[in-house]
Amino acid sequence: MTERKMALITGATSGIGRAFAERFASMGYDLIITGRRQKLIRKVAREITARHGVEVRVVIAELSDEAGVRQVLKEISECAALAALVNNAGYGMDGLFSERSIGEHLALAGVMVTAPLRFIHAALPGMIARREGIIINVSSLGAWAPAPSNGVYGGSKSFLNVFTESLHLEVRHYGIRVQALCPGFTSTDFHRQMGVEKEMQEIRVYWMKPAGVVDYSMKCLERGRVICVPGLVNRALRAVMAFLPRKLYYRMAGKR
Ligand SMILES: NC(=O)c1ccc[n+]([C@@H]2O[C@H](COP(=O)([O-])OP(=O)(O)OC[C@H]3O[C@@H](n4cnc5c(N)ncnc54)[C@H](OP(=O)(O)O)[C@@H]3O)[C@@H](O)[C@H]2O)c1
Repeated sequence: MTERKMALITGATSGIGRAFAERFASMGYDLIITGRRQKLIRKVAREITARHGVEVRVVIAELSDEAGVRQVLKEISECAALAALVNNAGYGMDGLFSERSIGEHLALAGVMVTAPLRFIHAALPGMIARREGIIINVSSLGAWAPAPSNGVYGGSKSFLNVFTESLHLEVRHYGIRVQALCPGFTSTDFHRQMGVEKEMQEIRVYWMKPAGVVDYSMKCLERGRVICVPGLVNRALRAVMAFLPRKLYYRMAGKR
């Protein structure tokens, strides 16, 4: 009997993580999903099982805490068939660097940098041994957008991009596919959790749906594209941000 494939998706309670969970389940993967909103994530798990007939294991874990990270590491070490890892859990934080406590900044970097590094490090030996695997790090268009209040968030995502490309160069020979997925504005719980939902509704930006983001991520995987930016408008924005003279960029981005 062939072993069933397993995908671990962090932050699958809502938004992009939930859409990834649906997608991997529709491809026949059993799932381990993590989140903190217990009632909601258990409902997500039941719905996915009912729709796709796969097993879904829920791990309630705060990823800025050592205990939460260890819980997920335990799942990885006990899962011989981990075929896909999606480091998706993340959140934004408003406020200038000096206005927030260092503890808040370290918690953000912990969820979006340290935890993914530890999960990847734990998952890789099995993937290398099996000569296959998928690792998706959910980054952001914000990785190319230095701005007031975006230092730690954007810096974390920027780190993820460089790390992911470097990892690609290390593991591609083993058949392991890695990707830094860099969405722009996506309709999820992200901005509500940040407390800026109302402001976001007032500004005219290009919004994508989580399922559309995941569709494009899957396309990038098929095409072997490591840095994956969903949405034509977002790809154009990325190009503009890269080529704009820095002084002009600072003038535009520096307005708070
Ligand atoms: N939405 C956007 O516009 C956008 C744009 C670019 C990149 N992204 C990235 O996309 C990823 C997913 O976000 P989303 O937009 O789908 O937002 P979302 O709907 O708020 O989902 C975020 C997920 O991350 C989990 N999470 C947040 N903080 C956590 C913590 N401290 N410990 C453990 N889990 C935590 C949440 O779990 P609970 O809710 O259960 O606590 C939830 O499952 C993030 O990495 C974000 O940076 C989002």
